Amino acid sequence: MKATEEIKSRLDIIEIIGETVKLRRTGNAYTGFCPFHDNKNTPAFVVWPDTGSWKCFGACNEGGDVFSFLMKKEGWEFLEALQYLSHRTGVELEHQSPQQENERQERRRMHHLLTMVSEYYHKLLIDNEAADRARKLLLQRGLSEETWGIFRLGYALSSWDELRKFCLGQGYSDDDLVSVGLLVKKDNGRVYDRFRDRIMMPICLQQGQVVGFGARVVGSDDQPKFINSPQTTFFDKGSLLYGIDKAYMRIREERAAVLVEGYMDVIAAHQDGFTNVVSAMGTALTEKQLRLLKRYAPRVVLALDPDVAGDRATLRSLSVARQNLERESAPIFDPRGLLRDEGHLELDIRVATMPNEMDPDELIASDPESWRSLISKAPSIVDYVMNVFTTGRDLQDSKVKAEIIDDIVPIISDVSHPAERADYMQKLARVLRVDERMIHMGKKTGFGSRDNYNRAISDSNEPQKHLEVIDELENYLVVAFLRKPEVVARVDRALREAGSEVLSSRDFGITEYQRLFEIIKASINQAVTTPKEYIENNMDVGLHESWQELCYAGNELVLEDERRIQDVISSAIRLRSRNLRHWLIELQHLETGMRGQGDLEQAQNYQDLTLEYTRALRGLQSLLRDYSNPLSALGTN
Ligand code: UTP
Ligand code: MN
Repeated sequence: MKATEEIKSRLDIIEIIGETVKLRRTGNAYTGFCPFHDNKNTPAFVVWPDTGSWKCFGACNEGGDVFSFLMKKEGWEFLEALQYLSHRTGVELEHQSPQQENERQERRRMHHLLTMVSEYYHKLLIDNEAADRARKLLLQRGLSEETWGIFRLGYALSSWDELRKFCLGQGYSDDDLVSVGLLVKKDNGRVYDRFRDRIMMPICLQQGQVVGFGARVVGSDDQPKFINSPQTTFFDKGSLLYGIDKAYMRIREERAAVLVEGYMDVIAAHQDGFTNVVSAMGTALTEKQLRLLKRYAPRVVLALDPDVAGDRATLRSLSVARQNLERESAPIFDPRGLLRDEGHLELDIRVATMPNEMDPDELIASDPESWRSLISKAPSIVDYVMNVFTTGRDLQDSKVKAEIIDDIVPIISDVSHPAERADYMQKLARVLRVDERMIHMGKKTGFGSRDNYNRAISDSNEPQKHLEVIDELENYLVVAFLRKPEVVARVDRALREAGSEVLSSRDFGITEYQRLFEIIKASINQAVTTPKEYIENNMDVGLHESWQELCYAGNELVLEDERRIQDVISSAIRLRSRNLRHWLIELQHLETGMRGQGDLEQAQNYQDLTLEYTRALRGLQSLLRDYSNPLSALGTN
């Protein structure tokens, strides 16, 4: 048995989930309030001990097995959940190679070193005479001593070797210190402290381990204003977010993250109670960072300086500059890149601009109410960009119109959802008072005609509601998608045409498949590499084994033939239908159970859901009929 299955079989899912959610028994299931969205009135969260699965029938509509529950609840990667549960159940994981084990220990040792150093800097800030100016500056900026403590702010002495001496005294070597960037090593082999006479800000992973520092000058004329730990695999700026360790809980509660440009803004925001605020490290937001935020919330609001975000010339040059611009000093606001990421991560990205050249920290301090409303009313990124390009310009002038179209169309054509894209095009046409057909998209949006094919769909009257059957379907689909990621787009098209939601990880019940599907989906919505390369580069460490197994299984699958592709598509529709049927049966039980307990309101909720699911199922069934009827599936209606 595979470790994940062994763990599930040994584990009582009720016990694990029961630790966070108060559950009560209802028939063969347990119900409670969903911990992932904040409705406290209806116990829409259901756990089935026999199948080891859970589902929320309420707003968040999430579900899965015990792994996905822990990943969602703790914000863990699959590997973290696996390690936790392996420890808890005593199920041994495939042991790591000695090399991996060494690397892990080495990483842990470096975390210790950096934590120790951050405490050393912190202590200096608190009580060393030399830190006097640093303390004054922080107080002047309105940051209380309590806040210094929360963020472990520190001070690095104006010395070339104080830190080095301290660390050597603790048993670390020069090489250790160089490798985490605390020491600089010159070509002639001499070493010296990297950070001198600076205010130190430890930068942490979301679980709180220190991986590096941001360091601000104390004297105003020193340059550069900030230096950071150097880029390493250990301190990877593109995948870190300053403040995430203190913000992620609140981001989850608020279902939104706010992204500011500066470290100081993060600290000030937290001090004033806006604790869902994080920042990048002076570089453009990367997909990795957005993906990290996506783990906690469906929305990200960028709170940007008007210089960066609102300047047309900057916006225009960005898409060109994107690849080769490695700017240390100012964050890059890149709407095209962001829109691509927004599309394939299914994130809602908004932009708020600060008024009157104010930094977020100034605005928060002087007028927290207006900060609050600025964030909550922030327009979508496309609306924002349209605004920047159109306000204050003469929209009667046809040359101006043409310019605006040239600027905006490439941005809109990166919106990945066709319906949204069409909306924006319409809006642009309306604003400019031009005929929509005059605006040429850089991208083909039509569906095109389907290939001819012979229909040979397998029988869809299989027995219902067996976990094994669901597993088999999930397995088949993931294998097929790994083999040919592009098929996912075909599936989505079919589902959309039937008025259903596109396929998502929620259609899968097993965490590994959920996560694999997410990666597959992301792979077809990017244009940097081939989907397969993307999958390879982005595969979670903990999933390598399952992934390789599934790829291996896929070698036998021939997907060149249109007929086989149609079979994959109809299998996906069957998966969706089967889930719905499964939930319908469970809803029936739940409703009866609730009636039995006299909870009529909840029984009614389940009844309403039954109706909704029945309707959805009906739509899918007629779609499936199409797939067994070659003529209508060919689009000759
Ligand atoms: P800011 O200059 O706005 O920094 O740069 P700030 O955090 O608001 O600090 P104060 O208010 O001036 O004290 C925004 C971010 O850009 C990066 C840092 O991450 C900084 O927080 N930056 C800035 C650099 O990396 N290097 C620099 O020289 C300047
Ligand atoms: Mn600032």
